[in-house]
Amino acid sequence: MEKNVNKCEEIVERDEKVISKASRAPYFPVVMKKGRGSIIEDMDGNEYIDLFSSSAVLNTGHSHPKVVAAIKEQVDNFIHFSTDYMYAEAQVKLAEMLTDITPGDFDKKVCFGLSGSDGNDCAIKLARSYTGRSKIISFIGGYHGSTYGALSLSAISLNMRRKIGPLLPEIEHMPYPDCYRCAFNKERENCSLECLEYMKMAFENYIPAEEVAGIMIEPIAGDLGFIIPPQEYMDGLYKLCKENGILFMVDEVQQGFGRTGKWFSIEHFNIAPDVMVTGKSIASGLPMSAVIARAEIVDSLNMPAHLFTVQGNSTCARAAIATIDVIKEEKLMLNAKKMGYYIKKRFSLMEKKYDIIGDIRGEGLSIGIELVKDRETKERNDDAAIKITYRCWQKGVLLIFLAENILRIQPPLVIKKSELEKAMNILEETIEEYSLGKISDEALDMVTGW
Ligand SMILES: Cc1ncc(COP(=O)(O)O)c(C=O)c1O
Repeated sequence: MEKNVNKCEEIVERDEKVISKASRAPYFPVVMKKGRGSIIEDMDGNEYIDLFSSSAVLNTGHSHPKVVAAIKEQVDNFIHFSTDYMYAEAQVKLAEMLTDITPGDFDKKVCFGLSGSDGNDCAIKLARSYTGRSKIISFIGGYHGSTYGALSLSAISLNMRRKIGPLLPEIEHMPYPDCYRCAFNKERENCSLECLEYMKMAFENYIPAEEVAGIMIEPIAGDLGFIIPPQEYMDGLYKLCKENGILFMVDEVQQGFGRTGKWFSIEHFNIAPDVMVTGKSIASGLPMSAVIARAEIVDSLNMPAHLFTVQGNSTCARAAIATIDVIKEEKLMLNAKKMGYYIKKRFSLMEKKYDIIGDIRGEGLSIGIELVKDRETKERNDDAAIKITYRCWQKGVLLIFLAENILRIQPPLVIKKSELEKAMNILEETIEEYSLGKISDEALDMVTGW
């Protein structure tokens, strides 16, 4: 299929000469010109339905008028004045709103930053300073960001860690409770939560529990492939934390702000975390992170242990206030549930026709589709993931894959049924084409991916 991408390709060529390759996993040569709601237009005038939300950053959609108006009003008055030394009303108001929507019937405070990554660094600092302990536990396959702390928590890619060590010490990684690809070769029906037992065994043999400051878990593991742990695992993990004076910390950077049909994905488990890291969608695309934690934990950190000159920036804070208002006023969590249900239903019907669909997972508008070569062996079908996403891009639907073979479906929460229907029809048509061997190998040279 011919597609005019002249202007986009020219910019990509210039980009490659001046921009760090460490900062991009290339998928398609899309250079955005304009976006509204769930629709994107590129520099060559091609339109796309966005099933990706700029990596789960645009929960309110592209340039939501209320978010844009709040930003404009703020920049007309002033852009920012460092709250490292003085105060800003928007920042205070936002912190009040955040502590209000975060689970937990206890006093909370907020630490602001600029990215999900620095939010995770903040969580490490809080856990260490509050407990006086040094060790942190996170999970194999998890992604928490690219600053040294967040990168040390992550265990998803060797290239992320090669050549830049030493990383942060005292961080241990455990198997994630993944019931589709269980590290202990069990099925949920016949397992005894060996993943949790493994951690207990580690506490008995080589990780003194009394030296562990915090456990950091993504309650629905996005980049690992939208894995939802069993409730019993999360209950057990929380109990283990409480029994050993360990902080229960969650990374809500990707799943937060209504994406899974609740404000935060940890609410699906009815657990109130001690520390919660947020970012991405918080300010609808402006750079911001917020760590919301028990007040006494936040107060344990000394000044100036977490100070960034533009943290909690007034313009970003106004965007974040408007974002929270829009999610409430437009009932976006309800829309996420309804639209998510529709997507899963469409895939369940497809599953009967196409053997490459191995599993359908997710909550709300955070959905992962496992593409496999064989349903029994669960061998990852990376060929299908590349070709299907590439073909969808050619046909005007933007989505990517992660963990080699998993379609990542995270449209803006404002997406309309008619847009989603159109996107799903194109996706189904493309899966059919792939199953008939009709998609050429051209995509394999074009797409590198995550
Ligand atoms: C779960 C999770 N945590 C942290 C991050 C890092 O956020 P940022 O890229 O804003 O630093 C990401 C980004 O993809 C993420 O998905």
